[in-house]
Amino acid sequence: MDYSIETRPIEILSCDCIIIGVYQNQQLIPSGTALSDNLQKLTTKVFKRGDLSGKIGETVMLNVVPGSGVERLLLVGLGENKPLSAKNYRKILAAAIANLKKPAIKSVACSLTDIAVENCNLAWKVRQIVEVFNDAVYQFTALKSDKETESKLQHVTIAVAESDLGEAKQGLVQGIAIAEGVNFAKQLADLPGNICTPTYLAEQAAELTKNYLEISVHVLEESDMTTLGMGSFLSVSRGSRQPAKLIVMEYQGDEIRAKPVVLVGKGLTFDSGGISLKPGLGMDEMKYDMCGGAAVMGALLAAAKMQLPINIVGLIPSSENMPDGDANKPGDIVTSMSGKTIEVLNTDAEGRLILCDTLTYAEKFHPDIVIDLATLTGACLVALGRVPSGLLGNDDDLCNALIKAGEAACDSVWRLPLWEEYQEQLKSNFADLANIGGKDAGTITAACFLSHFTKNYRWAHLDIAGTAWRSGQNKGATGRPVPLLSQYLIDRVNEKH
Ligand code: BES
Ligand code: MN
Ligand code: ZN
Repeated sequence: MDYSIETRPIEILSCDCIIIGVYQNQQLIPSGTALSDNLQKLTTKVFKRGDLSGKIGETVMLNVVPGSGVERLLLVGLGENKPLSAKNYRKILAAAIANLKKPAIKSVACSLTDIAVENCNLAWKVRQIVEVFNDAVYQFTALKSDKETESKLQHVTIAVAESDLGEAKQGLVQGIAIAEGVNFAKQLADLPGNICTPTYLAEQAAELTKNYLEISVHVLEESDMTTLGMGSFLSVSRGSRQPAKLIVMEYQGDEIRAKPVVLVGKGLTFDSGGISLKPGLGMDEMKYDMCGGAAVMGALLAAAKMQLPINIVGLIPSSENMPDGDANKPGDIVTSMSGKTIEVLNTDAEGRLILCDTLTYAEKFHPDIVIDLATLTGACLVALGRVPSGLLGNDDDLCNALIKAGEAACDSVWRLPLWEEYQEQLKSNFADLANIGGKDAGTITAACFLSHFTKNYRWAHLDIAGTAWRSGQNKGATGRPVPLLSQYLIDRVNEKH
C-alpha cells in the first residue's frame, strides 16, 4: 500500500472513497463542509433516518453521492465536538479502515487530519493514519494456496493544508518506516516454527543488509558460543536439533565512536518447555516466542528507513527449546558466560538462560543503554493482561523515557518494581542462582534474574508476553513493541539535537 500527502482540496482528488468525520451534533469536519454544499444536507438526512448518531467509531458508507463528483463517501462518527483522546482517534481510524476492505475500493482520500486530538500534532496524526491502516490491512497469506486478500486498497491520500506540508511529510516518513518495521516483525512472527528456525531468522537478518547499507549482520555459531563460554545459552539449544544462532546486527547512523543503544530480543523459535514440557492446549502459540527478536529487527529496519543519526546494535539469541535426550534436566547446573552458575529448576524458564549470556556479551559494545525485549513470562499476562508490556529496569531516566515513548506511540508499558527483596526467591542450594523464583511475582523474579547480568550498564527489560501477539479468533502477531522502540529512538535523536 502506498501513502501520499496532498494539499489540493479533497473534492478535486479522484479516488474510490473519501473519508469524512462528523460529530454527534451533526457538524462535519472542515474538509467535509468544503466538499459540497449538499453534504451537510445529506448528513442531516442520514442522522434523521437514524442511520448515524455520530458516536465515536460509528460509520455509514454512502455509495452514491448526488450532486458531486465523489464516488463514495464514508462518514465516521467523532463523538462530542471537542478534542479527541489519542486512543479514540485511533479507534476512529480503525473503524474507517474496517469499512474499506471491499474489492471495488482501491484508493481512498482521508482528511481525518482536520480533527483536534489532545496533545497531538499533525505529524502524529499522519503517522497514526499510516500505522493504523497498515495494521488493519495486514494479512498472513504466505502459506495459503489462495492468496486472495480481503483488501484491494492500494493508495491512501492524506489531505492536509498547504501550510502543514512539511510537518505532514515528517509524519509520513516516520509512519511508513514504523509500519514497515511492524510488518516485517509480524511476517516473521506469524511463520510456524518448522519454517522460522534460528537459521531462518539469521538469514532474514542478513537479507535486511541488502536493502539497508547502514545495517551489517554477523552470526555467532554454537562453536563461537562455546569459545565465549556461553554455557547457559548452549544448554537450551542442546535440547534441539536446530543449531542455535546469536545474531548480531549493527546499524551505524552516527559517527563510529558514538556509544550505541543495544537492543536484545529473545528469539526462541519454538518453546515446548523442554523436559518441563508445556501442556498441549495452545502450545502452537509458542512459535511466537521469537517476537522479541523479530521486533529488534523491525526496529532496526525502521531506524534505517528514517536514517536516524544514532548507532544501534541488535542482539538476537535464537534457539528452540525442545525435550531431546540431551536436553536440560531439572536440577542441572550450567555455567554462564559471566561465570555465575545457574541451577535449572525448570527447563521452561529458558528465555532468561539464553538472554543472560547475550546480556553479558552486550558489554563488548560499550553500550550507552541496553533494552531487552522478551516474551518472558506467562505471569506478565496475569498481571497486566494484553494492554501494556511489562517494564522493569535499573535506571529511572531510561524507564521514564520508555513510558513516555510508549504513550506517544500508543504502544504502552507499565513499570513493575525491581526491588532487592525479590532476589531472595532466586536463591539456590547448589548454584549461584536458580532459574525460577517460585509462583509469586513471576515477571519480577524473571527480571531479577536478568539483573545479575546487567550490572555494568543502564538497562531496561520489556516483558512482551501479553502484547506481542493476539490469541483466539484473531490470532496473529502485533509487531509490538516496534512502535515504542522507534519512538524512543526518535526521541533520543531529538533530544540530542
Ligand atoms: N515463553 C514463555 C513465556 C510465555 C508463556 C509467554 C505464555 C506467553 C505466554 C517462557 O519461556 C516460559 O515458559 N516461562 C515460564 C516461566 C516459569 C517456568 C517460571 C512461564 O511463564 O510459565
Ligand atoms: Mn519457556
Ligand atoms: Zn519461552
